[in-house]
Amino acid sequence: MTEIVMECKNLWKIYKDIVAVRDVSLQIREGEIKLIFGPSGSGKSTLLRCLAMLTTPTKGDVFLRGECLTKPGVDLNKARARIGFVFQHIYLFHHLTALGNVELALRHVLKLPKDEARKRAMSALEEVKMEKWANYYPAQLSGGQQQRVGIARALARNPDIILLDEPTSALDPELTGEVIDTLRDLAKKGTTMLIVSHEMPFAQEVADEMIFFDEGTIVETGTPEHFFTNPSTERAKKFMMRLIKRTRRE
Ligand SMILES: Nc1ncnc2c1ncn2[C@@H]1O[C@H](COP(=O)(O)OP(=O)(O)OP(=O)(O)O)[C@@H](O)[C@H]1O
Ligand SMILES: [Mg+2]
Repeated sequence: MTEIVMECKNLWKIYKDIVAVRDVSLQIREGEIKLIFGPSGSGKSTLLRCLAMLTTPTKGDVFLRGECLTKPGVDLNKARARIGFVFQHIYLFHHLTALGNVELALRHVLKLPKDEARKRAMSALEEVKMEKWANYYPAQLSGGQQQRVGIARALARNPDIILLDEPTSALDPELTGEVIDTLRDLAKKGTTMLIVSHEMPFAQEVADEMIFFDEGTIVETGTPEHFFTNPSTERAKKFMMRLIKRTRRE
């Protein structure tokens, strides 16, 4: 068995009267790709944000390569620098070029010297096939290209894991394909990823495990084969039917 890269144990996130994440435990090993899917409002984004420590879990623990991030005194900036995060809505700085956006965290978080930051940012842009657009501003790029810059930004820090929160859901179907191609390339290279996505053909192709999430918790896990042929819970069955119908329509 390969090493566990990220793990959470009995994780909860409660907002006033809403339980967004309810007693979730999961593990992602080196090179694994796990895909979370489930209804809107079920807590998928909140779970990802808790794992990246972008929001503080109410209870439970998060571990990155065995180091507990939820205990007091942990240097969270250092830990966050080892976790790549790709958002559903693409947050690029509009006054910076593609290259500038990728370089930013390398210079300010990792404190790399200018030359090295530039070299690493260019190589990350090459990985997502965006090197030709390095000097373009976000407004001059398509949504798919902007999201690929977002992925390059996550990759550039050479993170232990990349968490992606519905990276294609804000895109038109024709732009979704190019982002999926980028993720497929990363999958082939063995990048460890936890992805929230409802792109079922992509899931079928790359996911080692799919996690059906509902009402803040893991309802069912299994291989894509399991979910496509014979999910065991009624909730997962119904949800899969809806997704498959939607995919056929597209
Ligand atoms: N900052 C917040 N304050 C209060 N409630 C929140 C906050 N963030 C999320 N919630 C609530 O937590 C629940 C889970 O939300 P979350 O965004 O994690 O769901 P999701 O599964 O990602 O949904 P979607 O598929 O629409 O992106 C929702 O009821 C939401 O209203
Ligand atoms: Mg969400």
